[in-house]
Amino acid sequence: MGKFYITTPIYYTNDVPHIGHAYTTIAADVAARFHRLAGDDVWFLTGTDEHGLTNLRSAERHGLTPQQWVDRIAGAFRGLWDFLNISYDDFIRTTEPRHQKVAAAIFQRLYDKGDIYLGTYEGWYCTSCETYYPESELGPNRTCPIHTGRPLEWTSEECYLFRLSRYQDWLLAYIDASPSSIEPETRRNEVVAFIRSGLRDLAVSRSTFDWGVRVPFDPRHVIYVWIDALTNYISALGYVDDPARFRRFWPADIHLVGQDIVRFHAVYWPIILHAAGIEVPRQTFAHGYLTFGGQRFSKSLGVILDPEVLSREVAAESGAEVDVAVDAVRYFLLREIPFGASGDFNKPALIGRFNADLANDYGNLLNRTLPLVVREFGGVLPAPGPDEGTDAALRTLARSVVDAAFEQLTRLNFSQALGEIWRLLGAANKYIDEEAPWTAIKRGRPDRAGTILYNTLEALRIVTILVSPVLPTAAQRAWGQLGIPQPLAAQRLDAARRWGVLPAGLTVRPGSPIFPRIDTRSKVAAAVVTPAAVAAAPKGGNSMQEISIDEFRRLDIRVAQITTAERVPGTDKLVKLTVDIGDEVRTVVAGIATHYQAADLVGRRIVVLANLQPRKVRGVESRGMLLAATWGDDVAVLSVDGAAPTGAKIS
Ligand code: MSP
Repeated sequence: MGKFYITTPIYYTNDVPHIGHAYTTIAADVAARFHRLAGDDVWFLTGTDEHGLTNLRSAERHGLTPQQWVDRIAGAFRGLWDFLNISYDDFIRTTEPRHQKVAAAIFQRLYDKGDIYLGTYEGWYCTSCETYYPESELGPNRTCPIHTGRPLEWTSEECYLFRLSRYQDWLLAYIDASPSSIEPETRRNEVVAFIRSGLRDLAVSRSTFDWGVRVPFDPRHVIYVWIDALTNYISALGYVDDPARFRRFWPADIHLVGQDIVRFHAVYWPIILHAAGIEVPRQTFAHGYLTFGGQRFSKSLGVILDPEVLSREVAAESGAEVDVAVDAVRYFLLREIPFGASGDFNKPALIGRFNADLANDYGNLLNRTLPLVVREFGGVLPAPGPDEGTDAALRTLARSVVDAAFEQLTRLNFSQALGEIWRLLGAANKYIDEEAPWTAIKRGRPDRAGTILYNTLEALRIVTILVSPVLPTAAQRAWGQLGIPQPLAAQRLDAARRWGVLPAGLTVRPGSPIFPRIDTRSKVAAAVVTPAAVAAAPKGGNSMQEISIDEFRRLDIRVAQITTAERVPGTDKLVKLTVDIGDEVRTVVAGIATHYQAADLVGRRIVVLANLQPRKVRGVESRGMLLAATWGDDVAVLSVDGAAPTGAKIS
């Protein structure tokens, strides 16, 4: 048992959160929950980075004061974290007085030590990254190396500079002595190469705008947003005001970040702390990018996916509770992509994991075990008898899985840890199939059947404890169905290490399936990703193409019902539909024949854009457009919930 302080980056408030931000935060949440399970004293911090030019410009674009704007976006981040069941202990905002005080104090201390001096700085500046880039790192035509295609601004200004160069050798020696301070190794190697190439003194104040923390000894300047931002990790612990809390949790055990901001955390931050006489963090762990079609999710690049929309989609498609669908999204992100590497988001893979791993391997094992306990034993779990068959092997495997999962989770290898847990689920499914309690009953051996059920449920108890950091809601539901009186939240890892903990005499409570299978033949919608402007992005600026509400109102989108459907002869893809749009019947041609049988379409209630200019397709005049989601070669027709009549307007 020890203490465990984990942080996420504090996110810019230049725009609403997307799944890229959620990816880091979910991973941090799972690590925090896992360490609580392991009995550690955990502090989990997240928050928002609200100063600087990107935030200021967003506020201007939206016609709000900077404070109004950042209040709104900080609220959106908090709202999303609550929706995603993020168990943060504190949410820090850099506009809070408790933070500003510490940022100013650290700046003053570095100045007093002679590490900060007045000079001028010139260079290529990216306002999205809030950083200068050396000539050697620029993209083609002097564009940002991180934001593909974004032009940089040549900026020259009087500013305070921080003597990074003075600490170069110290940092190299430190990393050499504590290699685990930067993980994974590839990132460490990059950082070391960057330091070896020579550290330039860093511009740490700006005087061309004032949306920031004022430099305490020169109010014409505000503190550079990265210095301001990094100090959140100590200001939130009460570095000035709450020395007891600070001592309890500092140094940070893990700063979890995306690979785009390793340098700030693994170079600038330890130097600032060391120069200020504060202990440096134990580790910066950098994960890879979440991409869509190979393009990084990023609002400024125009590729976004709202995790709330995605979770609600999964809930609607499966019939699961929204919180359980949230669990599925959490599970998918951590299971699918080895943590540290980059990976592409793909909705069909999410559905595949939902059905195979969650509905089948986990949910269905409960669904077929508990009702048997009810049918054969009146719902009361019998005491197990002596080992037979593969009983001992299942028990041994469970123990080794708990140890392996623990080991992998400690190193943030979420995907491997989940793989281990699913190894136990696979074994438990195989166990019940092979040992076949139903056969034991037929053969007049109810005791043996009871033992098999006991062992299967014991494996499920262990799995449920282990998955609880990833699937907090589903694990709670499973725990309730197992009928164990002690709360799941009170369980610790050693309860998963022990076998035979389920008390005989327990009354199980089977319920409806926690993860109802998703019918992939009909209902699945593509995730609403906006691959807006991979093409438009090189023009720079905010590439999201916004339309006004009036422009949207010009679209006549309605609920419609298909009355007839037939293939357009001589084509693979086209179907000719007659659709009732409320006040008239139209012919609409749609390219969905590879995914839908004409006969299955009749009677479906769909969504149609009614005021599209008529056009001839293969000799048939199409008047209107059926709306469907498309991704890759896949198509899913939009349908409407509830009792909306044909002709109802979509607005
Ligand atoms: N404000 C700074 C961080 C200051 S920390 C002292 C910042 N903010 S950010 O809003 O741009 O967030 C960047 C972080 O969001 C990344 O480091 C990463 O953790 C997460 N991600 C944003 N988009 C992502 C992906 N497409 N994929 C994975 N993570 C992503 O930088």
